[in-house]
Amino acid sequence: MSKPTPAQQQLELWYSKNKKKHPDSDEHSTDASGVPLVYKDTSITVGKYGPIVLTDWNLIEQLASFNRERISERIVHAKGAGAFGYFEVTDDITDLTISKVFERVGKKTPIAVRFSQVAGNLGSADTVRDPRGFAIKFYTEEGIWDLVGNNTPIFFMRDPINFPMFIHSQKRNPVTNTRDWNMFWDYMSLSPESIHQFMILFSDRGIPDGHRHMNGYGSHTFSLIGPDRKLTWVKFIYRTDQGIKNLDPDKADKLAGTDPDYALEDLYNAISRGQFPSWTFYIQTMTPEQAKKLDFNPFDITKVWPQKQFPLKRVGKFVLNRNPTNYFAEVEQIAFQPSNLTPGIGASADRLLQGRLFSYPDAHRYRLGINYNEIPVNCPFRVRNFQRDGHMAINNQGGAPNYHPNSFGGPEVSKNAEKGVSKPSTVSGEEYWFNLGKEDNYTQPRCMYLNVLNAGAKDRLAKNIASALVKVTVEDIKNRVITEFGKVHTDLAQSIKSHLQNLTI
Ligand code: HEM
Repeated sequence: MSKPTPAQQQLELWYSKNKKKHPDSDEHSTDASGVPLVYKDTSITVGKYGPIVLTDWNLIEQLASFNRERISERIVHAKGAGAFGYFEVTDDITDLTISKVFERVGKKTPIAVRFSQVAGNLGSADTVRDPRGFAIKFYTEEGIWDLVGNNTPIFFMRDPINFPMFIHSQKRNPVTNTRDWNMFWDYMSLSPESIHQFMILFSDRGIPDGHRHMNGYGSHTFSLIGPDRKLTWVKFIYRTDQGIKNLDPDKADKLAGTDPDYALEDLYNAISRGQFPSWTFYIQTMTPEQAKKLDFNPFDITKVWPQKQFPLKRVGKFVLNRNPTNYFAEVEQIAFQPSNLTPGIGASADRLLQGRLFSYPDAHRYRLGINYNEIPVNCPFRVRNFQRDGHMAINNQGGAPNYHPNSFGGPEVSKNAEKGVSKPSTVSGEEYWFNLGKEDNYTQPRCMYLNVLNAGAKDRLAKNIASALVKVTVEDIKNRVITEFGKVHTDLAQSIKSHLQNLTI
């Protein structure tokens, strides 16, 4: 039998770390209000064989507390793994941003990271073909900066109104409650803007070997605000120092049955053993003048910025060196939101990003409650504002006035914060439902097919697509999907067809 892993031995290791003694062993056991318990393992009954009585408030409390252990899972990215560490600046970019994170070479900022799969539920397998979430929380001295990225540089759509529709097509059929391949491919075949992301999803990188061996991308175009409030458009990219490793689909399928928590365990064990995973952090930058002259929309998340034109610039690295001390407290309750931007880093007109600025805090208010920022992992800082009350208000700011302006003083705005936002800019135009559907959806995927994938990778892409397409029962959908991939390249369509012929359900 192989040696047990740190994840398998968690309790034993915790026990020996405490010198083989539970730290509360010499204390008395209490109820949730701290009152000492008379008995822990027996309910109060009338006589030895009689019924239980309502006086047994401890029993009632335990049963009631148990019934409330689950909170709703994230609507997407439900299954995940988290870890903590630090971000360190390696190269100076103070000409581009006044962000405290990038203040000087050598500066370290504590971070939390959560990796996730998108479509599956809380208990789903880690080795499915799905994009991976790769979200980073920076605990800066100017509040929280969240970079809520994925392991892909692009996304399935460019308008947030389509996000719920897309997600419905990837999740369970509302009648059978099972994954539905007609739904999955139907949406894709009718949404040409999604093809670039589907190409990545069905490539080798669609099933990373755990979380340590994949890159991450902020994906959107963000802004950096430098001295004199100078604005530069930016993309954030973090490359794994462990090297890219992907799983062969057959192995991934097997692991989904035998070891569904494969990625979670791999991360936990690596960190426990002191093999701290790290990523090198890069940016791509574009001036507003370059953006105006570009032959594609730089705020369209379905497109990458070509590296030849916008080379990667190394700026730092991050290291994960601590496992959560409690999964629910620090990972299930962690709340990332793209609207958490600190001075020197801002959003852009990317439509999808604009939608996300609203969506995440709203999701947290529903899932965790209005005071979710009082959960220590989300915001360990003392906030100073005029918001009050609501469920679970813990730091309710005592007797200080809860309105502004007032005659009794209170926090004033930060002069530095204004230095960290771009100068006033003109935004004007007609208000209408401007559809961006006529953009070029195929040039970049074609470039990926021709220039990035070698012969073997091209063949595996076609095979992976065919293996999922063979499950479609509606011929029209199948044909439309092949037509779409044919617009990327006729060889790809041809190759999918030949693989389909060799497959049976
Ligand atoms: C999670 C919405 C696009 C990355 C979520 C959640 C929502 C959501 C509601 C659950 C949040 C929670 O309960 O904690 C949306 C919408 C999008 C969008 C409306 C488009 C309009 C994207 C894109 C990326 C992304 C483009 C990556 C570039 C993530 C990640 C998580 C997440 C990493 C999990 C965060 C965590 O680990 O807690 N998204 N999303 N999403 N999303 Fe999105």
